[in-house]
Amino acid sequence: GKKEEPAPVAPAASAPAPAPAPTVYAVGTDAAYAPFESQDEKGEIVGFDIDVLKAIAAKAGFEVKFINTPWEGIFNALGQGDRDIVVSAVTITDERKQTLDFSEPYFDAAQLIAVRDNSKVAKFADLKKLKVGVQTGTTGDEATTKLLGKTNTNIKRFESTPLALKELESGGVDAVVADNGVVIHHVANNPGAKFKTISDKEFAPEHYGIAVKKGNTALLEKINQGLAAIKADGTYDQIYAKYFGA
Ligand code: ARG
Repeated sequence: GKKEEPAPVAPAASAPAPAPAPTVYAVGTDAAYAPFESQDEKGEIVGFDIDVLKAIAAKAGFEVKFINTPWEGIFNALGQGDRDIVVSAVTITDERKQTLDFSEPYFDAAQLIAVRDNSKVAKFADLKKLKVGVQTGTTGDEATTKLLGKTNTNIKRFESTPLALKELESGGVDAVVADNGVVIHHVANNPGAKFKTISDKEFAPEHYGIAVKKGNTALLEKINQGLAAIKADGTYDQIYAKYFGA
């Protein structure tokens, strides 16, 4: 005989369609760059850049997952699609703009020299005959390479900025050239290292941007909208004050 089909249960008219889950973007960051990005005791990635991007994501309606990524290769990871976003205190440069797209600038920086406090160095040009530590492929590396010359073996390149600063402490290099925020933070938090800092107006102003794969304008627009929103409503200022004081 004919089986009776149960009447199909229609969804209640009032049930809202489930909201689509927000896209989770993979974010590359070299988390050895306090106060911009570092790992806390629990191994969690924290810092100014992290808070800024989380706030942008909340405004723009996407989610972020931070992945500690070595600086060398961080831009390749974007190009290959292993990362969707790079936030890593990245200076916007014309050269990088050829292969990546950048958000509007979100932070101003400049290079700063760290030396041991008995050093006679007074300006950038004084480093010409000295051993200088830099993080490979950074704007500090570029500036130092320009001053000392491409083939100069006195330039000591390190995988991370903290490694260069350790080498300054142990005497392996005479100076380190790196972003001001990171050098100031390191000197303040390592009084035992007995460092001092030297600024020089020879160093060009730098601006940090959030990077995406070249041509990913949809994501870039969301990031720029979120950035504008957190600047407009005071969120950016709150994050800034948390890390750098009011
Ligand atoms: N601002 C410099 C640059 O873009 C250094 C950035 C290094 N960032 C990092 N998280 N290690 O070259």
